[in-house]
Amino acid sequence: MAQEEYTHIFNRSVNDPENFWLEQAANIKWFQRPVQALSKDEDGFYRWFKGGKLNTSYLALDAHIEEGRGDQVALIYDSPVTQSTKKFTYNELRDQVSRLAGGMKRLGVEKGDTVIIYMPMIPQAVVSMLACARLGAVHSVVFGGFAPHELAIRIDDAKPKAIITATSGIEFDRILPYKPMVDEAVQLAEHKPEHVIVYNRRLGAIRPDAENDIDYATLMKIAEPTRCTEVDATDPLYILYTSGTTGKPKGIIRDNGGHAVAMHFSMKYVYGIHPREVFWAASDVGWVVGHSYIVYAPLIYGCPTVLFEGKPVKTPDASTFWRVISDHDVRVMFTAPTAIRAIKKEDPNGEFIKQFNMDGLKYLFLAGERCDVSTLEWAKEHLNVPVIDHWWQTESGWPIVANMMGLEQHFDIKPGSATKPVSGYNVQVLRQDGSRCDPNEEGYVAIKLPLPPGTLPNLWGDTERFYHGYLKTFDGYYFSGDGGYIDEDGYVFITGRVDDIINVAGHRLSTAEMEEVVDKHPDVAECCVVGIEDDLKGQIPLALTVLKAGSEVEHFQLQTEIVNDVRKEIGPVASLKRVLVAKRLPKTRSGKILRKIIRAIADGKEYKMPSTIDDPEILNEIKELFEEEKIGSFS
Ligand code: COA
Ligand code: AMP
Repeated sequence: MAQEEYTHIFNRSVNDPENFWLEQAANIKWFQRPVQALSKDEDGFYRWFKGGKLNTSYLALDAHIEEGRGDQVALIYDSPVTQSTKKFTYNELRDQVSRLAGGMKRLGVEKGDTVIIYMPMIPQAVVSMLACARLGAVHSVVFGGFAPHELAIRIDDAKPKAIITATSGIEFDRILPYKPMVDEAVQLAEHKPEHVIVYNRRLGAIRPDAENDIDYATLMKIAEPTRCTEVDATDPLYILYTSGTTGKPKGIIRDNGGHAVAMHFSMKYVYGIHPREVFWAASDVGWVVGHSYIVYAPLIYGCPTVLFEGKPVKTPDASTFWRVISDHDVRVMFTAPTAIRAIKKEDPNGEFIKQFNMDGLKYLFLAGERCDVSTLEWAKEHLNVPVIDHWWQTESGWPIVANMMGLEQHFDIKPGSATKPVSGYNVQVLRQDGSRCDPNEEGYVAIKLPLPPGTLPNLWGDTERFYHGYLKTFDGYYFSGDGGYIDEDGYVFITGRVDDIINVAGHRLSTAEMEEVVDKHPDVAECCVVGIEDDLKGQIPLALTVLKAGSEVEHFQLQTEIVNDVRKEIGPVASLKRVLVAKRLPKTRSGKILRKIIRAIADGKEYKMPSTIDDPEILNEIKELFEEEKIGSFS
């Protein structure tokens, strides 16, 4: 039965995407309905709903108000770090959004302009995103854990007319001044935004004033509320930078029309939630999960959404998630496996869970990194609800493989698998030559084109990279960058990235980017950074260096300097803590560093000695080094 219902909807979505998605598009309120679902743009890339006119902020707010829901709760801000909670109705949120949009308009921000948002998890971040959407301006939210240098790279790429920030963020019990970081980034960047709008949190953080600063509260006071600007379905809603395999991050574009349709569809069919039920994604607005499932999907679908400013532990303790679920009657929750691992470490027997009434909770969804079986089992046992591992990426914007809880029947879970491809995603596992793998044969995970609505149509200002990075590898397919296999029952297993991207505490990072920083150290002749397994964060980066001839730098000093360099250039979120000095790095005869084997040695996994290895003895040296330094499986 599960199979029949799933197969019917899935087959329609991939065999007749035009009609399937046009029907889904009817579920949102367009200013002008699209008459055609799929088309191609001037570069030959697929686009969705061209000609349809809409506004995403209208769908998130005004549409519900027009239906008489203005006094119902839209946003629940729960902030254990400031010990406060505040609820916003659709009316209240719309008023703030339209006022900020009016203020930005006054500053000259127009449809098509870009705006960078660098903010902590406060309601003003959501208001800023929706205000941009209201104007048809393109926002780019940058995660607060990135350093000024990273922010500067994004400023130069997105060329924002304005930046919106706040005076400070709070990490556990530390106040982090954001404004000085924005000032430094603006100084580093070649592009200079015309305005920096600063929300003053009044937490006592340093708050230097610059000439083009605008106080958020003052702007709100003088601004006139503004109406929604009509945009085309294919106009960009946002750019979200994500790590690629080079030092330069990629600007993933999200359009308005396809995104809205996909957000609505996923809430109903993947997350199995009903409008008016509370949805909570415990992520950050700086990541794709935050864009899709803190802000846009719940609001568009009409679910109150929780904006949580805290951590799974220590804010104040490992009970905080369960307290939030109970206090706000959360029906569906989404978090990263890391968060559950952090809680499990503090409360292995789930004692805190027993203190709260969580009868309303229907499902816990996990994503952002590979979900280990023990974490999944622990959550299932202690929460007593289905725990759904689902796989997706910044690029897709919504789940690619998941047990679709909105269908009447669900599949049995196979631990290690995110279950089956979601409607619209024709997922295949391919060999290097492009042929399809047999069941259970590991290969490259790719998706047959066209990708469904809501997925990336291109990269911001880099069509070449879009084509080369995603479309060229396998003709007619989007290549995900992940490896995996599909078993005989059609279950998809994702085994991990096949490129230089790692996932640290659910945060996607590029080892190539870290290598660029390590390489700059004056004592380093060559280096590599690999992601090794970690009990809490899933993966953590490890740097291996070879020193320049004659260098006499002490190991501890080198490590401290490089760790600081990476924090300064990329940000604390990179979590690089260990730097080792090796005599040599293992390479192929053509000079390629054997990163996969280094990783396998650290993780205590088996590996095949490549026939192309330059000198197999180096692997023993690396193993001895790891033993000596107590790295990974040797700790
Ligand atoms: N602003 C500024 N700094 C930030 C930040 C932010 N938004 N987020 C993280 N950082 C900093 C942290 O303070 C930490 O700095 P430190 O080295 O000075 O202590 C560093 O970046 C690393 O952070 P993190 O990897 O998160 O480690 P942690 O030890 O602070 O917390 C967990 C560990 C498991 C509690 C935390 O990673 C977590 O909650 N993970 C859930 C992941 C998640 O929600 N992912 C989103 C994708 S779904
Ligand atoms: P991001 O773009 O930050 O969402 O990271 C996407 C990457 O995280 C994917 O390409 C995978 O490598 C990994 N990932 C996300 N969810 C899962 C999952 N459920 N299982 C395995 N890997 C995952």
